[in-house]
Amino acid sequence: MTLWTLLKNDHTDITAIGHTILRATDRGAIRNRERLVSELADELEAHFEAEEDGLFDALEGKEQVRGLVTSLTAEHEEIEEELGRLARIGKKNTVEWTSRFEDFTYLLDQHFHREEHELFPQAEALLTGDELREAMHDYIEEKTEEIRDRHRRFGLGPAALWAGAAVVAAAGLVLAAERSGYLKRLVAPRPELGDNPQAAVKERSRKNRKRRESDPLAPLGGT
Ligand SMILES: [Fe+2]
Repeated sequence: MTLWTLLKNDHTDITAIGHTILRATDRGAIRNRERLVSELADELEAHFEAEEDGLFDALEGKEQVRGLVTSLTAEHEEIEEELGRLARIGKKNTVEWTSRFEDFTYLLDQHFHREEHELFPQAEALLTGDELREAMHDYIEEKTEEIRDRHRRFGLGPAALWAGAAVVAAAGLVLAAERSGYLKRLVAPRPELGDNPQAAVKERSRKNRKRRESDPLAPLGGT
């Protein structure tokens, strides 16, 4: 299992939620749109933050992809903002809402296509083995922190926490992670992050994103 597979799996899962929302046309299913849009927002946030902390930060200093990474970071913001606007519209069963959501899925598809076909191949060629391992470490750390946060929010106990960690394990990383004691360290309490580790990791992501955005923004969209 490689970082590229993990990131592409995220893209596939997120795309599938989008398609489920679009296919929800009967009354009962339309009611599910509210829940599914919220699920989509959670998945997108977890993916973007893990991708930025893992891959984008590893690429800092690689001049060849600097503009592309800046542009893709801006697209992350644009996508999150548009989904936020769609989520705030109360009636999600109208033709207008569905049409606007469909446009959103095109934006998302285009963004994933740029990452998979423009960024990932270049990044794979540019990163050393150590840099790639570090990127994977940071990606897993961020994803695990998101899982921990969801469990805290939904009040689930330690057993469920390990079930959450199994999501990462299912990605094929568990054997290597367990051998090195890595998974244990990830799910163990982390006093160095203070009382709110999720906030600490988010703050780190926010600062990193700000730093990347200090570059001139390339235009959004287009491949
Ligand atoms: Fe991505």
